[in-house]
Amino acid sequence: MKAGKQEMPSFRMARPSDIERLYALEYQEQAYPWSYEILEGTLDSGRHRVGLYEFHEEIVGYFAALSVADEYTLLNLLVSTQYRGRGFGRTMLNKLISMAKAEAETIFLEVRVSNLSAINLYLSVGFVEIGQRRGYYPAKKGREDALLMALPLIKNEKLFSGI
Ligand SMILES: CC(C)(COP(=O)(O)OP(=O)(O)OC[C@H]1O[C@@H](n2cnc3c(N)ncnc32)[C@H](O)[C@@H]1OP(=O)(O)O)[C@@H](O)C(=O)NCCC(=O)NCCS
Repeated sequence: MKAGKQEMPSFRMARPSDIERLYALEYQEQAYPWSYEILEGTLDSGRHRVGLYEFHEEIVGYFAALSVADEYTLLNLLVSTQYRGRGFGRTMLNKLISMAKAEAETIFLEVRVSNLSAINLYLSVGFVEIGQRRGYYPAKKGREDALLMALPLIKNEKLFSGI
């Protein structure tokens, strides 16, 4: 069923049984999609937090993060192309941030330097650049650098001094 104009997608944590639909979304939307095995590993792990938004049976987007000690690492954030530019990316990210606040002090992520939509989104919710990784990603021509970004969830003088 297609979403109505005023309808909001509902949130829930992903389940192992979502794998086929998430894999289809990855394959359809990403230039370098996650493999079935990687997805399977994140859905079947006590350390990963995978949340999705859906209209009935249609997945609007999802995020995946790794929770280790007092750190979250955002591994994936994806909104289906037809739903982009409508605030769902920010809604998903804010959901992840509120989840992280319950168990972490900092969220880290890497993003392609060319991915301005995602970088703008991350900056808009308070992430700051803390470094770069040269040639981190495969690219059409050679490799592409990553920006390393972080969002402090509590005051973290050591990590963020000088920023
Ligand atoms: C990045 C992504 C999740 C954003 O989702 P979205 O639902 O389109 O984003 P929103 O509508 O919530 O927009 C939130 C902010 O993101 C930024 N943004 C979104 N699309 C943008 C665009 N085309 N150009 C520049 N900035 C953009 C803006 O800062 C925007 O805030 P604004 O509307 O107040 O200007 C989406 O583009 C996506 O899934 N991309 C492919 C996967 C990906 O690259 N994920 C990030 C991996 S690190």
